[in-house]
Amino acid sequence: EQIPKYVSALLVPPVMPRAGTIRQQGGANVDYYEISMRQFSQQVLPAGLPATTVWGYGAVSAGSARGLKVHHAPSLTIEAQWNRPVRVKWINDLVDPDGNYLPHLLPIDPTLHWANPPGGEAERDGQPSSLEDPKPYTGPVPMVTHLHGAVAVGDESDGYPEAWYLPAAEDIPAGYAHSGTWYDFFAGKAASRFGVTWGPGFATFQYPNPDRARTEWYHDHSLGMTRANVYAGPAGFYLIRGGPSGDKAVLDTRSGTTAVLPGPAPKEGDDFPSRKEYGEIALAIQDRAFNADGSLFYPDSREFFDGATAEAPGFIPDTDLSPIWNPEFFGNTIIVNGTTWPFATVRQRRYRLRMLNGCQSRFLILDFTGIPGVEVWQIGNEGGFLPAPVNLTADHGNRLLMALAERADLIVDFTHVPVGSHVLGNVGPDEPFGGGEPVDDFDAADPDSTGQVMQFRVVPAVAPDPTTPPQFLQLPAITPLPAASTTRRLALIEMMSASWDGPAQALLGTVDGSGMPREEMWADPVTENPTLGSTEVWEFYNFTADAHPIHVHEVAFEVVDRQALVTNDDGETEPPARLVGVPRAPEAWEVGVKDTVIAYPGEVTRVKARFLTAGRYVWHCHILEHEDNEMMRPYQIGPDQP
Ligand code: C2O
Ligand code: CU
Repeated sequence: EQIPKYVSALLVPPVMPRAGTIRQQGGANVDYYEISMRQFSQQVLPAGLPATTVWGYGAVSAGSARGLKVHHAPSLTIEAQWNRPVRVKWINDLVDPDGNYLPHLLPIDPTLHWANPPGGEAERDGQPSSLEDPKPYTGPVPMVTHLHGAVAVGDESDGYPEAWYLPAAEDIPAGYAHSGTWYDFFAGKAASRFGVTWGPGFATFQYPNPDRARTEWYHDHSLGMTRANVYAGPAGFYLIRGGPSGDKAVLDTRSGTTAVLPGPAPKEGDDFPSRKEYGEIALAIQDRAFNADGSLFYPDSREFFDGATAEAPGFIPDTDLSPIWNPEFFGNTIIVNGTTWPFATVRQRRYRLRMLNGCQSRFLILDFTGIPGVEVWQIGNEGGFLPAPVNLTADHGNRLLMALAERADLIVDFTHVPVGSHVLGNVGPDEPFGGGEPVDDFDAADPDSTGQVMQFRVVPAVAPDPTTPPQFLQLPAITPLPAASTTRRLALIEMMSASWDGPAQALLGTVDGSGMPREEMWADPVTENPTLGSTEVWEFYNFTADAHPIHVHEVAFEVVDRQALVTNDDGETEPPARLVGVPRAPEAWEVGVKDTVIAYPGEVTRVKARFLTAGRYVWHCHILEHEDNEMMRPYQIGPDQP
């Protein structure tokens, strides 16, 4: 059954209202938010089709009378000012009107290493699950929020996967642990750092925002269930504005004065949906699948590809893999800002589009070639503005590769696009990405479904465009990191199945002196322990057949280079790792500062970071199905935790 496309208008996420401003000791003002994650119904599919039950964040209390307290998936945008702290009380509000807990919308695999409330599962189901007898978890839902891209955040505020907490529900049986093993430790730290108290069903985090202006995003990060929690909806944008690398620091090379970037962006207090015309729009692109009743479809076994609505890589069910988990998930439907295949009405002028690949496993290759006369420039990535604008139309075939969690700040010029409707396409694959050019090296997405993202309805401009043409933008300078004192060799490893001749799952690990990979599981002791204040190069040796987007919490990094390794006939790195050829510079859109980088098969990818905040963090693959099943490792900056 087909979902009609381009019948719903694009929703522009409004601004999350503040609960107030707190004056901290020493006089610094802190923007304060109270944000809950709830379950509600949303028209994700076009009107006329059933609504979808989703989860999303929203403001609980609003400081101003006009503040809008809406819960939406994806959620409202937090507007942060450079160097001005943001404090958020994150509330797990997955309870029904009677105060009883709501079970998960999607199947949770209790045989993974996950945020298992100790005592809980046995209490509720009578007996624990096993590989032979899997029973999806049906208890109260753990959550913990991570601000992706935030730097200089204390570990108590980073959303450590084992610092989750359950809702404050009436009916949670005795014997349940209400929080993960790290919650109490971080609660103590938050109390001594900020004087905040964590309580049943919530934690209060604080973000200092001292780094470059940029596009960040927040999402759930609970251990072993992030793929399911985020699939249900809880994610939103977090924009840092101002400071020495903010919009005002962008110059027009013709005049030497401040350039004019396309705007406006939504403002706190704007209606939702708004009748205002925005020139700066954040776009979260995600893949989903739906049952006929409008509910979200996510597989509850690896046999789901038989007759289900979603596309799947077609893995063979076997005995040594977790029975409910799938190595990847590719939904057959694209949603943008929470609506399937929306349309946006745009004028013949320039727009600033802040893109996020918020999919589960899907690498996107956004394809603007179906929009005649368009000119697309990339001016920023995860770490804020690039050193110089990159003309994607002239120099990169009008395409943009985005791995999971990567962001791209674009200027899209519709001035010369004919009035009419034009589709933004996607030529990334409906399967794991191995690198290479679209169409030649792999099958591009299905042109009738996932090969389409959204429609632009171009109408005439009403006034001359006041914005600076991108070729005249002088973007703020980026201070390079100092030389590294340590180089770490890290491994992306394919674990082979014991029961059939193929890969079972990908893991992380280290590379020893002779080039051999060594697997490290989530529960193994920390192996990456940078000294506080040090600068290090991390080398990701990819021994698997696929590309993986690697994300390191707490730091922003420079992509140093990539270099080929000796591979076998399948293009996989043949251990021991041996370098060949000369290193290859990062792509034009990877220069500057990033927090997520694609590690291609058959290569080592090198990044450099400075570790300035002591504490316990994680690094992981951002394919959500991978990070949930052991493709994530803890790391420690400075002395190890007690
Ligand atoms: Cu976007 Cu550790 O995550
Ligand atoms: Cu991965």
